[in-house]
Amino acid sequence: MAVESWSISATPMPAMASDPTTSVTTSTLSDEHQLAALLDALGERARAALDACLPSAATLPTRLHEAMRYSTLDGGKRIRPMLVYSAGKALGAPDHRLDAPAAAVELIHAYSLVHDDLPAMDDDDLRRGRPTCHKAFDEATAILVGDGLQALAFQQLAQNPDLDIDPAARLRMILTLAQAAGSRGMVGGQAIDLESEGKQLNIAALEDMHIHKTGALIRASVLLGALCADDVDEARLAGLDHYAKCIGLAFQIHDDVLDVVSDTETLGKTQGADQARNKSTYPALLGLDNARRRADELRDDALASIADLDTRADPLRWLANYIVARKR
Ligand code: IPE
Ligand code: IPE
Ligand code: MG
Ligand code: MG
Ligand code: MG
Repeated sequence: MAVESWSISATPMPAMASDPTTSVTTSTLSDEHQLAALLDALGERARAALDACLPSAATLPTRLHEAMRYSTLDGGKRIRPMLVYSAGKALGAPDHRLDAPAAAVELIHAYSLVHDDLPAMDDDDLRRGRPTCHKAFDEATAILVGDGLQALAFQQLAQNPDLDIDPAARLRMILTLAQAAGSRGMVGGQAIDLESEGKQLNIAALEDMHIHKTGALIRASVLLGALCADDVDEARLAGLDHYAKCIGLAFQIHDDVLDVVSDTETLGKTQGADQARNKSTYPALLGLDNARRRADELRDDALASIADLDTRADPLRWLANYIVARKR
């Protein structure tokens, strides 16, 4: 798959203004706690936005809507909405504009998980500490849940009145999410993942798969947040885009690491699932230590590309660290 625009090295890095790890790794403990509490509150805010935009479980067809709510509302870490809010805040976007894109990226993500768990894909029984959608409901419902969530995501961007930006910016956001979700983004990455089961990918092919299946939506999350600010210049967007590409790849490397080193209860999904399905992963190809090292390098690269932003970007810095240190 040709992926010129997704390549991490394709975007030149802005000059590094200072120690890339300032602010978070050198901040005081109370700063860390304050940031963690802020991110937690943003996760709750995203849940409320999702709750508000999802049809109630009493809306016909009730079983479908119950399953859409089951698959979206509880248990997720909400990292993608947190990135939307954090990128927007870093550039001074008003909070009320960020709810629709935050919900939209999480709806696409929730749909991707429901389909990822289907028997035809990863065939998993456990997600977010509960039976997967097709286990709690049935396979046909799980397919339709994904379809419904995806459409609702675009409806949010197209229609939510709180997204009070000019029509050209709104259209750019819709295009950004469509490209990230589609066959040249997340869905394309999922296709590569399935084709690669039982094969030994080389490192470039593995990176390409991860950049698409997971990186694309993380990249869109940051861009969508940034696009909610007024008068964002393209150089600033490019710096944030580089940050997002780096943490997107680091995110999936760490997901692969957790599949090896964590346990099912902590993860809320079945530990060892990658090995059981003969997936191509970073630990399988490079070993655990090298995989972890690569994720840390990418975090540092991400931090360097936003080093010139002021303290309003601290939540983005905190998230870059969290993504490679999280336990689940
Ligand atoms: C899991 O994503 C799927 C991947 C893209 C690796 P998350 O780890 O963000 O899952 P939730 O939303 O917290 O459940
Ligand atoms: C899933 O990757 C990526 C998407 C859902 C797009 P994984 O298959 O590794 O995710 P988990 O480990 O099941 O959450
Ligand atoms: Mg998968
Ligand atoms: Mg999976
Ligand atoms: Mg995984």
